[in-house]
Amino acid sequence: MSDPASDKERLDQLRQEIERHNQLYYQAAQPEIPDHVYDGLMQELIALETAHPEWGTADSPSRKLGEQPLAGFETVTHAVPMMSLANTYNKDELVAFDARVRKGIPDTPFRYVLEPKIDGVAVTVRYEQGTLVLAATRGDGRQGDDITRNLRTLDSLPKQLTGAPAPKVLEVRGEVFMPKAGFVTLNQRREELGLSVFANPRNAAAGSLKQLDARVVAERPLEVLFYAAGALDGVLFETHEQMLEAFKSWGLPTHSHYWVGETIDEVLLALDELEQQRHEFPYELDGGVIKVNERAVYETLGYTAKSPRWAVAYKYAPERAETRLRSITIQVGRTGILTPVAELEPVTVAGSTISRATLHNEDEIRRKDIRVGDRVWVEKAGEVIPAVVGVNKEARTGDEQPFAMPDQCPECGHAVTRREGEVALRCENLHCPAQLKQWLRHFASRGAMDIEGLGDVLVDQLVARELVRQPADVYRLTLDDLAGLDRMGGKSAQNVLNSIAASKSRDLWRIIFALGIRHVGARSAQALEARFASIDELVTADQETLEAIDDIGPVVAGSILAFFADARNRSVVDALRAAGVNLTRRADAAPAEGPLSGQTLVLTGALQHMTRDEATARIRALGGQVTSSVSKKTDYVVAGEKAGSKYDKAVKLGVPIIDEAALEELLRAHE
Ligand code: IVH
Repeated sequence: MSDPASDKERLDQLRQEIERHNQLYYQAAQPEIPDHVYDGLMQELIALETAHPEWGTADSPSRKLGEQPLAGFETVTHAVPMMSLANTYNKDELVAFDARVRKGIPDTPFRYVLEPKIDGVAVTVRYEQGTLVLAATRGDGRQGDDITRNLRTLDSLPKQLTGAPAPKVLEVRGEVFMPKAGFVTLNQRREELGLSVFANPRNAAAGSLKQLDARVVAERPLEVLFYAAGALDGVLFETHEQMLEAFKSWGLPTHSHYWVGETIDEVLLALDELEQQRHEFPYELDGGVIKVNERAVYETLGYTAKSPRWAVAYKYAPERAETRLRSITIQVGRTGILTPVAELEPVTVAGSTISRATLHNEDEIRRKDIRVGDRVWVEKAGEVIPAVVGVNKEARTGDEQPFAMPDQCPECGHAVTRREGEVALRCENLHCPAQLKQWLRHFASRGAMDIEGLGDVLVDQLVARELVRQPADVYRLTLDDLAGLDRMGGKSAQNVLNSIAASKSRDLWRIIFALGIRHVGARSAQALEARFASIDELVTADQETLEAIDDIGPVVAGSILAFFADARNRSVVDALRAAGVNLTRRADAAPAEGPLSGQTLVLTGALQHMTRDEATARIRALGGQVTSSVSKKTDYVVAGEKAGSKYDKAVKLGVPIIDEAALEELLRAHE
């Protein structure tokens, strides 16, 4: 028997607790508990409210969406309210959903559509006569935030509809999300900068859209897909499927896969198929959405306070495991950041064994109230990064120990500091062996200078014996230096020396990447190589020049400037040069893949509107090659002012000659 007094107490407690989690989830994009725990609280609340209808209130979190307007954005009222969906983790409830639908529209033939469900941020985008005029978040369903400026930065969002004539008004609704790969890279960058990391791709997308500076949003790898409509004028869609196809024909991104079925059994089969494919999607799926295909019956089926009765979301049980947190260790990174790491009793999650997971920083540990000895839930954030998502507090025995970060670097004993605006603690000792070790590991790694044999064990010894104090020292190592070390026979020592020597003539982008400039990953390094012929050009480049490069935004540009402004870093470059490491773009450097792949151009004479370097960089960025001599294989000779012998040779060989304006046109057509 339930006790009404304690039921009422629990109900109030649940409402308060859910409101608090709404605030953390929607406003701060920093949830404390995983989704399924939240869904459990909500279900408990709904069960209590159903048992005691007299306690129901219109403002209960079970009846309204949790999102409040954000400061700094204009509020917009939705022409048609934006609803959410009823969620379930249980297939039997889908069968019950089907029964309700059939009862609601007896004798009406209809079909279902099943779509993947992405966990992101719901948005609405309004087009008038085919032109984007407004983008907004869902907010409380009635009013949301105007995020037009932010959404405009998304490449996948058309600013103008294409194809068939567009209706007078078309409001499309969908999800903004962050693909898994982009999420992983973004978090890596943030961690290196000492910033807080996002718990999962959804938080990363939500946190990004809340930015007041659209330039920051532009640097976040966000995408959008549309799956519903709001206000419509001048267009009628009979079925959901027809609507999706119309979206596609206007150039709007939609799901590449969806299934249509007559019966709930067909839908359940399709749902299994979707689940099997779920990890192959470039973004994280959290379930499937089942909708009645025939839009004509929507009004008849109607709506609850929060969601339509003609659709339901099925959510996957999270791939999660519970295990014990044995201890928390501290790792010192390349930039001196101290990262607490959870040492776990090994456990299998989504097919792999996890025994360590980053806890990011002290704030995270406190926020989740993680204690040594706790039973914790482990997931893979973005399906890749092992993460502790919460604590099973009910399993506490009282023996769990709160954790405090050390005030000294565990590697060198130097005092640690917290820079303003950062969450991370840092060892600021530039000679901290831990930082040097991480730098060397990165420098030698396959993605950077690719020095085979220079692995962790060797790096540790080289640093401990002070044989290497900075990367360039690697090039001074002798057979004698190496032969005396553990696990280093004469032959393997010679092999290591050979691969060190071979790394002197790597591509320019590899050394740029190996320098370990914050924010400069392999891809940015390649973009820099396409623009600059040598490290020296990069060292002297200004912010404007850097920002003009595709893939390089203000943050990355600022980080490059700061790196080379530091005399110590410039001396690292000088030392590499003195050691004989290639610091220029190699003539045979592989060009990017692009519309000009396989084409060779020769530039001759003076160009008026761009420098030769710029022209070269732009051609290379499109996959073309620029060579210095004309042959029968040359595709075009670009003749500027006072073109000389190369021009004559082109005429003789019958190679097409174009002027600067034609080159500009060719580049523009593909850029
Ligand atoms: S339809 C009125 N379709 O999941 C119906 N929603 O948990 C509006 N979502 O609120 C929603 N994928 O933000 C719909 N294919 C899909 C979806 C989808 C993801 C989101 C949406 C919704 C939430 C419910």
